[in-house]
Amino acid sequence: MTAARRPLPAICLPLALAGCASPQSALSPAGRDAEQVATLFWVMLAGAIVVWLLMMGVALYAVIRGGREHAERRAKLYIVGGGIVFPVVVLTVLLVFGLRLLPGLLDLGPDPPIAVVSGEQWWWRVTYTHEGREIAAANELRLPLGRRSAVAVVSPDVIHALWVPALGGKVDAIPGRTNHLAFEPTREGTYRGLCAEYCGLSHALMNLDVVVTSPEEHARWLEAEAAPAKPPADDITRRGAEAFASHGCGACHAIRGTAAAGTLGPDLTHVGGRTRVGGVLPNTVDGFRDWLDHPEHHKPGVHMPSFHMLPTAELDALARYLDGLQ
Ligand code: CUA
Repeated sequence: MTAARRPLPAICLPLALAGCASPQSALSPAGRDAEQVATLFWVMLAGAIVVWLLMMGVALYAVIRGGREHAERRAKLYIVGGGIVFPVVVLTVLLVFGLRLLPGLLDLGPDPPIAVVSGEQWWWRVTYTHEGREIAAANELRLPLGRRSAVAVVSPDVIHALWVPALGGKVDAIPGRTNHLAFEPTREGTYRGLCAEYCGLSHALMNLDVVVTSPEEHARWLEAEAAPAKPPADDITRRGAEAFASHGCGACHAIRGTAAAGTLGPDLTHVGGRTRVGGVLPNTVDGFRDWLDHPEHHKPGVHMPSFHMLPTAELDALARYLDGLQ
């Protein structure tokens, strides 16, 4: 068969199925809650297919029968049975099946929330508590495998919504309110989360990576995350640290272990160890340089100013310093 005559489904189906296995797919669950949501989807889909086939059968019957009338008793049976009893039974079964899943999804687990996830225009502030101290990170949530971990979800500005399709349900981040969402990861890996409530210009770029590791690895990571930033090790990163201080970056950003203590933007203590720069660019020296040069280009409306006016060498030193903050 030539490519031109190949049926469309043969081309589209592999593409569609490849989409199902992505790190952002509710149909490729990597968490207990997402498994239940996926089961609900498949049961609903099966129910919809059965009802659709039945309706097609009835339509076919009507066409075959032509315009011939039924006896009144038989016609009433069709109307009451097909129009009232059948939908009530089908919808009740599906509703009860769906409601039975709710208590499991609302269970927040035995421990206090593992982190506070704050939706802010247009990034996620993720704050852990370690030995009584608050450790802030950004655009990345770390979870231990196999444990039920809840997060507290808040917002200081507008309504956002946290959704990690491969791991679980979805909850709104509402100013003045604290909501909760639990995850119980069943597979290690990095999954994509997003903001699921329109919140302004860069809503579609408000992503976060959820990194699931073994509980031991998670504890090691938290320990390292709680440590202050490494001082710059060579001349170029030292120049970068000086540029960071002299250009007032510390007014918005904190780097624990230095004088920078701003809280408006993301804490940068270990920014070099995160999965992405600004939540959108690869975490490399080039990524940092690109972001500092024109953040507006990568995230329209972002509150971070451009540092395009800096000499290239200074921008490069700044990028290398930030990349080194692992
Ligand atoms: Cu935040 Cu949409």
